[in-house]
Amino acid sequence: TLPRVYVTRQIPPEGLKILHESGQVQIELWDSDDAPVPRKELLQKVKGVDALLCVLTEKIDAELLNAAGPNLKVLSTMSVGFDHLSLEELKKSVKMLICVGIRVGYTPDVLTDSVAELTVALLLTTSRRLIEATHEAKIGGWGTWRTLWLCGYELANSTVGILGLGRIGVAIAERLAPFKVKKFIYTDVAPRPELASLINAEYVSFDELAKQSDFLTVCCALTPETKEICNKDLFSKMKNTSVFINTSRGGVVNQEDLYEALSTGQIAAAGLDVTVPEPLPTSHPLFTLKNCVILPHIASASYSTRNAMSALAANNLLLGLRGEPMIKELKL
Ligand code: GLV
Ligand code: GLV
Repeated sequence: TLPRVYVTRQIPPEGLKILHESGQVQIELWDSDDAPVPRKELLQKVKGVDALLCVLTEKIDAELLNAAGPNLKVLSTMSVGFDHLSLEELKKSVKMLICVGIRVGYTPDVLTDSVAELTVALLLTTSRRLIEATHEAKIGGWGTWRTLWLCGYELANSTVGILGLGRIGVAIAERLAPFKVKKFIYTDVAPRPELASLINAEYVSFDELAKQSDFLTVCCALTPETKEICNKDLFSKMKNTSVFINTSRGGVVNQEDLYEALSTGQIAAAGLDVTVPEPLPTSHPLFTLKNCVILPHIASASYSTRNAMSALAANNLLLGLRGEPMIKELKL
């Protein structure tokens, strides 16, 4: 009999087509895009499966691996982020031979353009106060043309700081450079000269990044080391004219500290595509702030990119089941 695959979401058609047409797997699918599979159902459904294709709303932890049991060989996530996977547990499962060794696929690169585009859009929306502006126009706030009304901050002659320089940070900088940015700076656990040379970015300390950036964009992965790395210590060092942008993971930000910084004018504005939790409750204080633009985690949401992610996740899964190298595999 064919290996069994559980797919935790109705993923875009390209990936499902690849799985079906391979003739290589039996597929079971949580047939909804509107709601994640309930945890209880997920724990039932994974029993005995050979492979799991998941999205970032599923927590893959010890409980899930135990529920799946020893057949599970391949885990393929349709995301570039992997903070929803307990890598420690996955490594342990390899050592303890609960299974032959689970291989993990993910979907970097194919979403870089889409995420960079959205980040630029969010940055401009936030810095030029577009949401406030359309709202004012619509509700009759547009009394007359006014000299300082709805003024924001411009990219020309600015310093843009990148927290965590990877493929996405480079792609953002490449798109911002034509706006006449004066200088790109970045920080990371160590200098990344090859990537930095692509965008002429200077390596600086975390403190200098805070102090110098007119626009600070967060592009790092969420790990134990980066959890709430953007907190009052960072915000207090930023200029009160600076704009903070996060399209990585909400967990890198201490949201209470961010609220404080935004409401007291310690920083000028923030644009967030990611929050804790997701969805952010509509009653959350951040929603009351005019200088905070919140998007519902849509950075990779273009039709072409989501289909490419779906296809890559499906191909990673099939390659993993065949014991071949995946196109994009996480090293455990
Ligand atoms: C989206 O946030 C992803 O990790 O792909
Ligand atoms: C603005 O529209 C200007 O003419 O300065």
